[in-house]
Amino acid sequence: MNTETDSSVLNSEARSSWDTDVLIVGSGAAGLRAALAASESADVTLITKTTLKESNTLYAQGGIAVAMNVDDTIDLHVEDTCSAGCGLCDIGAVETMVSEGIPRVTELLDWGANFDWEGTLPRFTQEAAHSRRRIVHKGDATGRETTDVLVQRVLNTERIRVLSDAFAIDLLTDAELAQEKDGTTCYGVTTIVADELVCLYAKATILATGGLGRLYPCTSNPEVATGDGFAAAWRAGCEMIDMEFVQFHPTTLYLDGAPSFLISEAVRGEGGRLINIRGERFMEKYHEKGELAPRDVVSRAIQNEMYLTGFPCVYLDVTHKSADFIQERFPTISDTTKHYGLDINIDLIPVRPGAHFMMGGIRTNTDTETNLKGLYACGEVACTGVHGANRLASNSLLECLVFGVRAGNNAASYATSQTSEPPPKILIPSPQEKTSGLDENLISATKDAIRETLWENVGIERDGEGLEQTLNDLEEIGAVTGLSHSLPTYLQTTDVALCETLNMLNVAWIITQAALARTESRGGHYRADFPDQDDVDWLRRIIMSRDNDPEIVEL
Ligand code: SIN
Repeated sequence: MNTETDSSVLNSEARSSWDTDVLIVGSGAAGLRAALAASESADVTLITKTTLKESNTLYAQGGIAVAMNVDDTIDLHVEDTCSAGCGLCDIGAVETMVSEGIPRVTELLDWGANFDWEGTLPRFTQEAAHSRRRIVHKGDATGRETTDVLVQRVLNTERIRVLSDAFAIDLLTDAELAQEKDGTTCYGVTTIVADELVCLYAKATILATGGLGRLYPCTSNPEVATGDGFAAAWRAGCEMIDMEFVQFHPTTLYLDGAPSFLISEAVRGEGGRLINIRGERFMEKYHEKGELAPRDVVSRAIQNEMYLTGFPCVYLDVTHKSADFIQERFPTISDTTKHYGLDINIDLIPVRPGAHFMMGGIRTNTDTETNLKGLYACGEVACTGVHGANRLASNSLLECLVFGVRAGNNAASYATSQTSEPPPKILIPSPQEKTSGLDENLISATKDAIRETLWENVGIERDGEGLEQTLNDLEEIGAVTGLSHSLPTYLQTTDVALCETLNMLNVAWIITQAALARTESRGGHYRADFPDQDDVDWLRRIIMSRDNDPEIVEL
């Protein structure tokens, strides 16, 4: 692909008006909730890569952690979150999330979320590293219930315009014009809609594009999760933080012919046992909390058991639970596995770890502001510091609801405070020919090659040699295909798969660089060559940005 700036420009005409006040990119819980909040005072356009419901949120099984149980307190939830985060959480951000989480969940219930109840309270379940039963849920389909409620409200809100099948490529910024000005401003995004490159101008933009599990071959994430928002933000000059911290969920389904599918931690929370191919229950060997040890510990333990037994998975056993309990509590898991010929009432569930959640992301404050004016970020693509080095189970939907509202409110108030001047003229290079010589097979092979090297060297365990190897691999993968991790400000293509590939290359490089810089082990980042947590030198965070070397900052 030719990445030189083309002399022809798509956007050469000055615009006399904005397309919207607030543009929201992404339709998971964070994007939907942001849209609802912003629409109270501004006109909103919400764009989404495929359909309105497709996102990581839809597949969330466990639930929403919230300190509403009779024996629970905000302080306890804050404490559990910070302890899972291994010393790197931003306590102010955690307090915001946990305390504002209560009205956010209450409101969701008021809007009709049909979560499971016991008497006058939601039925709270247990998950790893929580000191209380505090997860509200709808069977094992909490994400679907949450999505349904929010989508319905969005569709019923007049001030929200929804654009599906709109792939956001890049942020429109005045970086080129802004040399002497005070920082860069974001004015919307470039998108691919129906094979055409379209510029959407917005007074304020919110990135809520979700995660990046599809950078790895084994993942709980749906196909859309290729890290597009991280890459676009990076290219536009956003600061990224904590990018070395990828969470691997211990249990994704490993079954011939079945897609990689999450087997919720709640299954272990409700008494599910992990056993290896020899029938041995093994978690007690690794951690006093057994199956409910932190996710990184369970994932490494499973990987070790797979290595020791030479078998490609371990098993989760719930056969001791009653059939009624399983059907009521885990209908999605039970029905999905049944579809592939596995009856979890009598069969063991084959599982292994998979990429699940990105703790790091676009650096924001608790008001969801980024270092670009007019650009806000929330949900998984953002990093407020609430998760530190490892996310506590079921805190992600909570984060989406709380910071979605904050992003929506703040973006709307920024947008409505802007003068009515027309948008600045930003020159966008026209796309080159659609596929620029890369056929579908090459794109798919390139994606696989990126996934393979990340899984091998930037996965559950890393070391310096492997990380260097991946940096070389990424250079080579780029060279073979004519792509590069160092990319121009605006991608010049209208091929979505090609954009995804470039984004994956981009984000893989950022994660690997951050993982190489952190010479210790902490939370989701385990370095076999630096196996200990180093609180003397590494109670610090790593900020990466396109134009600067990684910056290591004090908490
Ligand atoms: C799960 O159900 O195990 C996932 C919940 C989460 O990631 O918080």
